[in-house]
Amino acid sequence: MAERLFSVAIDGPSGAGKSTIAKAAAARFGFIYVDTGAIYRTVGLAARRADADPHSEAAVAALLPGLDIRFDYGPDGTQRMYLNGEDVSAAIRTPEASMYASAVSAIPAVRAFLLDMQRDMARTHSVVMDGRDIGTVVLPGADLKIFLTASLQARAKRRLAELAAKGDPSTLEEVTADMARRDEQDSNRAAAPLKAAPDAVLLDTSELTLNESIDAVCALVEGRR
Ligand code: DC
Repeated sequence: MAERLFSVAIDGPSGAGKSTIAKAAAARFGFIYVDTGAIYRTVGLAARRADADPHSEAAVAALLPGLDIRFDYGPDGTQRMYLNGEDVSAAIRTPEASMYASAVSAIPAVRAFLLDMQRDMARTHSVVMDGRDIGTVVLPGADLKIFLTASLQARAKRRLAELAAKGDPSTLEEVTADMARRDEQDSNRAAAPLKAAPDAVLLDTSELTLNESIDAVCALVEGRR
């Protein structure tokens, strides 16, 4: 008999370490890691390229029917995003793309457009899926829900290190301000705001190393399986 599928929903603010932790935990259990932020980033990039106002519901909704958004996984398990056939995996990672992603993700038509793509993955695979509304909207029946947080200061420092490694010259002040603005935008929007599901386990990684955070998530998965 086929093994029962298992789903882990990890939500939390940007920079809490969700993607690195989720990816490592997925690899440990042989699950697929789904980075839903990358999917919103791809819509954000499409809006940027079309010169559409990312806050305008009408402008962004008009783009959606023309978008072909897909993703697959590289040999090392890295999720790659495609926009109308072009690999945009690197292009969606700039600070500008982050702001566009945050703006378009507040638009209900965008969220509805991307919902099935996310749910389909969990229907066909065991997944660790990370985002903002996975436990609350996308997979409300997930076997395990984790709300992963860290202080703004800890998150900004981690994001700065990631950007610096890619040669991005942003300063800690800029990264902290961008992050605070995105937190505010993602938490206070009407459509699927960032919030913990009532049955989510809260995990604050401010004082944990990356490996400790991964172990904590894996222990939670083990406990539920
Ligand atoms: O996780 P991330 O930073 O790559 O996400 C980019 C933006 O997309 C973020 O500002 C909020 C939005 N997002 C969302 O609204 N819902 C999700 N499930 C994932 C991301």
